Amino acid sequence: MKPNENKTARDKLIVALDVADAASALALVDRLEGSVRWFKVGLELYIAAGPTIVETLRKRGHSVFLDLKLHDIPNTVAGAVRSAASLGVELLTIHALGGRAMMSAAQEALAGVATPPRLLAVTVLTSMDSAQLAAIGVTREPAQQVELLARLGLAAGINGFVCSAEEVAHLRAITGPDGVLVTPGIRPAGSAIGDQKRVAGPAEALRRGASYLVIGRPITQAASPAQAVAEILKEMAEA
Ligand code: C5P
Repeated sequence: MKPNENKTARDKLIVALDVADAASALALVDRLEGSVRWFKVGLELYIAAGPTIVETLRKRGHSVFLDLKLHDIPNTVAGAVRSAASLGVELLTIHALGGRAMMSAAQEALAGVATPPRLLAVTVLTSMDSAQLAAIGVTREPAQQVELLARLGLAAGINGFVCSAEEVAHLRAITGPDGVLVTPGIRPAGSAIGDQKRVAGPAEALRRGASYLVIGRPITQAASPAQAVAEILKEMAEA
């Protein structure tokens, strides 16, 4: 099956467990268990709770996106990718800004792994706009920078990317149907934008070609996270 085929709304929603400890994460998982398949473990939770939280989520039958956004010299990233692969996660992030050699080393590190995670290269963080890019010396517009980094990733053998909904249609044209495109910065109507800059609604992101949507605060900080998920899944199903 192609990575993007025959998936229901539930298969395409990834809830970001951006909370401070395992107890808070599992309290959320308890409330969402029936309706959510995927959970994302990011830096805050992983640093606090470690591999045990990944193991717990897997034992409970969930798919895990380990969002460590690895960015270091190729040898170090390759080692970290091997360690992460041994946890049985299905998606794992590295930073495309680490360059082609780093991305190739990350991909090659998975060569002997029986069920390797899909590597996703983070292009431009959805919290960055052109002014913030310019301040770090990147004078291209976000969309151009995203394309440059995605082409570098493809050259390194990686066909999975994290980008905003603003660039996802263009990346879909570049990656073709096999590309796994993950879009954070999703904001259902009426929810706070927070620190995100390049945002879109759930249905719009899917219509533009996203494989998965990552949604954190609009669910985790809702008065009823389960109700927020139900509304988002409904909107996704209509896309
Ligand atoms: O709370 P919110 O919906 O903004 O959460 C978005 C999640 O996606 C966060 O966990 C953040 O780390 C992650 N992310 C992002 N932008 C990227 C890559 C990941 O916002 N480019």
